Amino acid sequence: MIDITEGDQNLSTEREGWTSDQPTNALIERDSALYYHQILSTPCLDEIINAEGPYITTRSGRTLLDFHGNSVHQLGFSHPAVIEAIETQMRSLPYCTRRYTNSPAVELATRLVACAPGELRDHARVLLTPSGSAAVGIALKIARACTGRHKTIAFHDSFHGATLDAASLSGQDLFHRGMGPMLPGVHHVDPPGGLMSAEADIEASVEPIEALLDQHDFAAVIAEPIRATTVRVAPAAFWQRVRAACDRNGTLLIFDEIPTGLGRSGMLWASEHTGVTPDLMVIGKGLGGGIFPQAAVVGRAELNDLGPTPVRELALGHYTHEKSPVGSAAALAVLDTLEHEGLVERSSALGQAWRASYAPRLSALPGVVDVRQVGLMLAVELTDPAHADRVMYESLRQGLSFKVGGGTCLILFPPLNVETALLDRATEILIGAIERAADAT
Ligand SMILES: Cc1ncc(COP(=O)(O)O)c(C=O)c1O
Repeated sequence: MIDITEGDQNLSTEREGWTSDQPTNALIERDSALYYHQILSTPCLDEIINAEGPYITTRSGRTLLDFHGNSVHQLGFSHPAVIEAIETQMRSLPYCTRRYTNSPAVELATRLVACAPGELRDHARVLLTPSGSAAVGIALKIARACTGRHKTIAFHDSFHGATLDAASLSGQDLFHRGMGPMLPGVHHVDPPGGLMSAEADIEASVEPIEALLDQHDFAAVIAEPIRATTVRVAPAAFWQRVRAACDRNGTLLIFDEIPTGLGRSGMLWASEHTGVTPDLMVIGKGLGGGIFPQAAVVGRAELNDLGPTPVRELALGHYTHEKSPVGSAAALAVLDTLEHEGLVERSSALGQAWRASYAPRLSALPGVVDVRQVGLMLAVELTDPAHADRVMYESLRQGLSFKVGGGTCLILFPPLNVETALLDRATEILIGAIERAADAT
C-alpha cells in the first residue's frame, strides 16, 4: 500500500505518461541515476530553469503558476528584497565562526521575540537552525531537558521532518519504514477531525489526549496548529482543552509552524487561530525567503533555566551553520517585506474573497466533498485519490502546480502577494481540471 498522506509519489499511471517526449528526459534520467531515489520526489517531472514571483519555468518552455512551492514562497520566488539582503550580507560577512556572534543574527532573534505569538511576545528565547527538522529536534530536546521526561504525543498522519527524531514524531509509516526502532515514547493519537461543531466531537478527539497527559509523565505534545497538508482546522475549544491538560501535567505544547507560519494562515502565526500560546514553536521554510535554508525555535524564555537539566547547561544545536549572517539577513528581509507590503492582512483578505467567489462553484463540482480556506491555505477535497491524481496532472498540463495532500486534498498555497487575476486564473484551471478529470473516469 502506497502512503500518499504527505504528497503524490510520482508512481501513478498519469506520471508514467508524463515524460514521453520531453527534451529534458536525458537530464531527468541522469538525476535518477545519480541521486538516491526518494519516493516523494524522484523521478523528477522536468528541469526548472527559472523561479520568479508565483512562476516556475521549465527548460522545455512550460511556465507554471507554482502554488506548491514546498510552502517556502510566502513572498514568491526570487523576491528582490531578499536577494538584495543576501547579496549585501554575503559581501560583508558571509559566515560566523562558533564562539562569535553577528549583528544580523542578534537582530533576527530580537525581531522573532518581538513578533512571537501570545504570551511569548517579548518573553521568548530563540535558537536558529539550518532546517525545520533540526528545529523540531531541538524543541524536543528542550522539552526533555526541562521536564526530565521523554514521552511525547503526536498525531497519526502528521509530518514533522525526515531526520530520525523528527520522523519518529511524524505519524506516517512512510517515514518509519525500514528504519528499525524509532525514538521511544512517542504516542500517536488520532488527529482532531475537521471543523468540529458539536461538543461531542471535541470531546471524542480530546479525551484520549487528556487521558495520556493525565498519566503525568509526558514531556511534550507536538502538532501543527493547522495541518498544512489537508487544511483541516480544529476549533479553539479543542486546543484550549489540550493546553489546559498540558498545564496541569507540566507538559510542554510545541506548535510546528514550519509550513503555516509567516502569514500563510492570514495571521502571522497559525497558532493565533487556536486561542492558545505554545511553550515552543518551530518555524522554517519561508523564513529564508525561499532562497536560504533557515529555521528557528522560539520558546518561553524561562525554559533556559528550568528543570532537572537546565537548557543553559546543554549543547542543543551545535550546528555548523547555526547563526548564519546570510540566513538571518534573508529572514529579516522576509519579516520586513511581510510588514511593509501588508502581506499578512492581504493573505487573510484575499483568502476570504477567494472563498466567497469560488467555494459555491467548487463545491458543486463532481467528486468535491469539501472546500476549505484559512488565509491563503486553500483546499479542495475530493472523494477519490485517482480523481485527485488526474486533476493534478491535468492542472500541470494547463499551467498550475499544487500539492495533493492526504491523497484527496488539492492544496493550493499561492504566494501572499499573488495578483488577484492570477489567483482567479489558477482557480479556473482547477475547476476545468476537476470537471475534465471526472469525465475521464
Ligand atoms: C509540518 C512540517 N514540519 C517539519 C518539516 C521539516 O522541515 P525541513 O524540510 O526544513 O527539515 C516540514 C517540511 O515539509 C513540515 O511540513
